[in-house]
Amino acid sequence: MFNSKIIGVGHFVPENIVTNDDLSKLMDTSDEWIQERTGIKERRFYTPGEKGSTAIMAFKASKLAMKRAKVTADDIDAIVFATLSPDYYFPGSGVLLQEMLKMGTKPAIDLRAQCSGFIYALSVADQFIKTGMYKKILVIGSETQSVALDLTTRGRGMGVLFGDGAGAAILEATEDNTKGILSTHLHSQGEFADVLCVREPGTNKGGKVIYEGQHEMYDLISPQMDGKLVFKNAITRMPEVTMEALAKNNLTIEDIDMFLPHQANLRISQMVQRFLKLPDEKVFNNIQKYGNTTAATLPILLSELWEEGRIKEGQLFALAAFGSGFTWASALIRW
Ligand SMILES: CC(C)(COP(=O)(O)OP(=O)(O)OC[C@H]1O[C@@H](n2cnc3c(N)ncnc32)[C@H](O)[C@@H]1OP(=O)(O)O)[C@@H](O)C(=O)NCCC(=O)NCCS
Repeated sequence: MFNSKIIGVGHFVPENIVTNDDLSKLMDTSDEWIQERTGIKERRFYTPGEKGSTAIMAFKASKLAMKRAKVTADDIDAIVFATLSPDYYFPGSGVLLQEMLKMGTKPAIDLRAQCSGFIYALSVADQFIKTGMYKKILVIGSETQSVALDLTTRGRGMGVLFGDGAGAAILEATEDNTKGILSTHLHSQGEFADVLCVREPGTNKGGKVIYEGQHEMYDLISPQMDGKLVFKNAITRMPEVTMEALAKNNLTIEDIDMFLPHQANLRISQMVQRFLKLPDEKVFNNIQKYGNTTAATLPILLSELWEEGRIKEGQLFALAAFGSGFTWASALIRW
């Protein structure tokens, strides 16, 4: 059996910075409300009309990850692509990225687990590597959320939270089973599917997914959320699934060098940190700059840590995420 080592990470965010004050011009909100409830100061949105998409951002993040890993697209055996905001309804963005990278006929697997998407994708890639089927896999989290947000007062509960961006990680097989991904832990609970969702285009009403009025369509494709219920579940499940990972590996909280929580809300991250009794220097947050970029948050965090030279051989990283589904997950990684 092989282990999967992360040999390179990269990210890309659009240049267009949207501050809380910018949003207050579009809706009844304020910098004070947003910062106090979420910690978010600004986020990146694609400029409407600018050539960009979930796959293009993923391409840019992948190029950086490949450069850092000192590999080319020819060396990669497969793509696992997590997103809730694909370029097309179908096919998924994975094949678009596969074509941009000129990967011949190599497989692209699309994965839908929303904010837990990156850890789910890591887990899927890890299984392929463990069995020896693939040696190198490109794992992506990429999101273009801005196109579907309702940026009026009606949608302010969701509209201020999200941002666009992409992150990529390259996994490589290693025979050293003390290194790399030690374990991943995945959960879901579909009874809460309606609590945080975008209902259309979908088939749940028996088929009709095309709507005549643009306005009606816009209403339907905007995300819906019961924020308080999401908050309550996130602060319970993220510590729980982190403890599950530690127990599985006979490790304790003190063994963690760096904890990376999914970036849904700084208040959620702070409560999770408190439950786990982790000191500030071991917890990394960047939601202040990017908002919630869903499947992209964790690889963006990893890439920023890489850039800052903060990832050191032998360190233990714990990643935890929670999101729509509900889905939640954790991963323990020894660098
Ligand atoms: C979204 C969230 C910040 C809202 O905070 P909250 O304290 O639950 O706020 P509420 O939704 O109860 O709204 C409180 C008031 O603020 C208002 N409000 C909502 N959004 C607002 C905004 N952007 N600006 C100003 N006021 C806003 C509401 O209309 C409500 O007004 P009312 O009391 O007059 O009815 C919080 O619930 C949250 O972060 N939840 C988790 C979300 C999440 O992480 N989602 C992604 C999952 S991975």
